[in-house]
Amino acid sequence: MTEIPEHLLKRAKAAKAKATGADAPAADAPGEAAAEAPATPAAETTPIPVVEAPPAPVAPYVAAAKARKTIPWWAAGALLLLPIWAISYVGTLERPPQEATGMLAEGDHVYEARCASCHGATGAGGSGYAMADGEVLITFPTTAAHIEWVAKGSDGFGLGNGYGDASRGRIVEGGMPGWADVLTTEELIGVVLHERARLSGSDEDAALAEAIDHAVDSGTLDLHGHLDPATVTIDEIQTILDSVGEGHDGH
Ligand code: HEC
Repeated sequence: MTEIPEHLLKRAKAAKAKATGADAPAADAPGEAAAEAPATPAAETTPIPVVEAPPAPVAPYVAAAKARKTIPWWAAGALLLLPIWAISYVGTLERPPQEATGMLAEGDHVYEARCASCHGATGAGGSGYAMADGEVLITFPTTAAHIEWVAKGSDGFGLGNGYGDASRGRIVEGGMPGWADVLTTEELIGVVLHERARLSGSDEDAALAEAIDHAVDSGTLDLHGHLDPATVTIDEIQTILDSVGEGHDGH
């Protein structure tokens, strides 16, 4: 015979009781149950002592890493600058452009600094006359006369007076500074040769510049002084130009 499980027997007994309406176990009233429930104990106020856990054992390599000195703060900056340094260093490896030397190079610098504002960077003219396209060679057929003009300027020649080649018909109107006090003789001759040789394309003046360079380099010519704008003459200037031994007569 098969044994009937306990819970099925219970269920059958309850069903029978329900059917007969007798002996059903009365459920407890919910109110009663609540009243009988034990009060929740008040929260414990005494803090539970926190027991500190003993430090976990540290592996020797971790300890070594922690003990090692870190990169100092300034090294971070140095490291950031490293690429910039690298780029600029590579830049220094390129050969610098050969710096031009001599009278024409000096004249170029002087022109840019002192004359370009009025006569134009390329000599095209501005508030002052054009220096390019042979213009200045027409006004001054000789280098010496050109140098004298730049040495003295408008005031040195005097308003209303003529200057340059007579056929050019230039009359001093004012506004051109005299430069002999400001520029050394070397700078003054240099800027005039720049205007003639470079801006106006005179080969003769380019050759003169080269001859002066040789004379200055070999020590036979010293142009460190200044021309006296009050007394300098075309003859005096011509003597200097002739001294370089190229048989240059200014024409
Ligand atoms: C402030 C403006 C100014 C500057 C700077 C200046 N010049 Fe002039 N330049 C003039 C004027 C204006 C004239 C005409 C002068 C006159 O009529 O009195 C002139 C005339 C000249 C002329 C005669 C040109 C011609 O065909 O008649 C030459 C050459 C000259 N300047 C060279 C120079 C040189 C070289 C420098 C620099 C060292 C220079 N100038 C700087 C204003 C200037």
